[in-house]
Amino acid sequence: MSPQIVRRICLAIAALVLTAAAQAGTPAPSPKAPEPAKPAGKELSGKLEMFSWWTAGGEADGLNAMYGLYRKAHPKVEIVNATVAGGAGTNAKAVLSTRLAGGDPPDSFQLHAGLEVEKYEPGKYLQPLDRLYASEGWDKVFPKDLIALLKYKDHYWGVPVNIHRSNILWYNQKIFADNGLTAPATWDQFFKAADTLKAKGLVPLVIGTKEGWEAGHTFETILASILGPKGYKDLWAGKTPWTDPKVAEALGTFKRLMAYANTDYAALTWSDAAQYLVDGKGGMHIMGDWTDGWFTSKNYKGYGWAPVPGTQGTFVALSDSFAAAKGARDQENLMAWLRLAGSKAGQEAFNPKKGSICARTDCDPKLFNPYLQSAMKDWSSNAIVPSVAHGAAAVEKWATVYKDVLNTFATRGDVAAAQKELQQACVDNGVCK
Ligand code: GAL
Repeated sequence: MSPQIVRRICLAIAALVLTAAAQAGTPAPSPKAPEPAKPAGKELSGKLEMFSWWTAGGEADGLNAMYGLYRKAHPKVEIVNATVAGGAGTNAKAVLSTRLAGGDPPDSFQLHAGLEVEKYEPGKYLQPLDRLYASEGWDKVFPKDLIALLKYKDHYWGVPVNIHRSNILWYNQKIFADNGLTAPATWDQFFKAADTLKAKGLVPLVIGTKEGWEAGHTFETILASILGPKGYKDLWAGKTPWTDPKVAEALGTFKRLMAYANTDYAALTWSDAAQYLVDGKGGMHIMGDWTDGWFTSKNYKGYGWAPVPGTQGTFVALSDSFAAAKGARDQENLMAWLRLAGSKAGQEAFNPKKGSICARTDCDPKLFNPYLQSAMKDWSSNAIVPSVAHGAAAVEKWATVYKDVLNTFATRGDVAAAQKELQQACVDNGVCK
């Protein structure tokens, strides 16, 4: 029998034992991971399989920068870069679930900080990382708001590499200057600017909804705008009902926005849409700040940015972390990766290219471009609210329904139907009555 088959059988038996224990009402084994002590000076070898959806410009560059540091420190380890393309992990998450359930996990994989972790049954498939956090002193260098997002059932399950902001309006500076426009701070100003651009034959708002999450992304920023940070947060806690008239107003605003969008939106990804700005054909784009990394990778410097109208002072946040799979093939290589991911050197190499700010509070701002420096300031002064399109605010099955509703809404525009479905999704997830 090959070692791989033996390994799979052992994993299957372990899974059966765990399932039986859970079914018998026995408490699940306390998730104490065998996190090894730092292999002081030990030369590592073998492989490290890393799983992510970072294939676009900017995100792939950031990941490669971290790999470069890893290879320098551990030249004998072969990094297997397992990527499944698709923004927001649309395709990657399904592949990952199958691999975990099949006992064939990558060593480490991309995981959004927040409730997304619930999808991967952390007690069953993930190693808790509490000891690593303690030995690296991470609870002191990761900001409080992030720590709160990272802890699930009292344990840490991922090491954050960054903080992203979802509520940014990117615009083409030349188009704006040529038309006497400035970044809109209110929806009235937005629609006035949109009319001006439309009259010039330009696409006022570019969007791509090909992967099914982008409409939900745009809408979460409109919700944060119209409900304010507290009202928005309360939606995910069942304290603001989805039947609230402000939700209808937000849907109405999104519908109005779509009337100014490129007609090929359903065939485009987020980066295809951003290309309209680069080509000087589109005026504005609402997207997360990985767009900053993507623009940088294209050497495009003609963009301006502002918070989505009405979200000044609100930072809709998400964070990418790396998790440790139970049954990882090489625990030492994995731990060395996680230490790098959480380190100052790792984050300073990664984030300026990725278009995100560090998950640590001690990175050198001088390494970051003006947009990212502004994001650092906003992160430390704004109200922080969690993104739903990127795993922070709700469990995956709720977030998926939310994204599907909005994706359909982008084309159909039926406000009453969408609002009803959004309320129902909250009820179905046991958060609303
Ligand atoms: C997000 C992820 C970002 C970026 C984006 C587009 O979910 O957190 O790092 O990759 O998707 O793919």
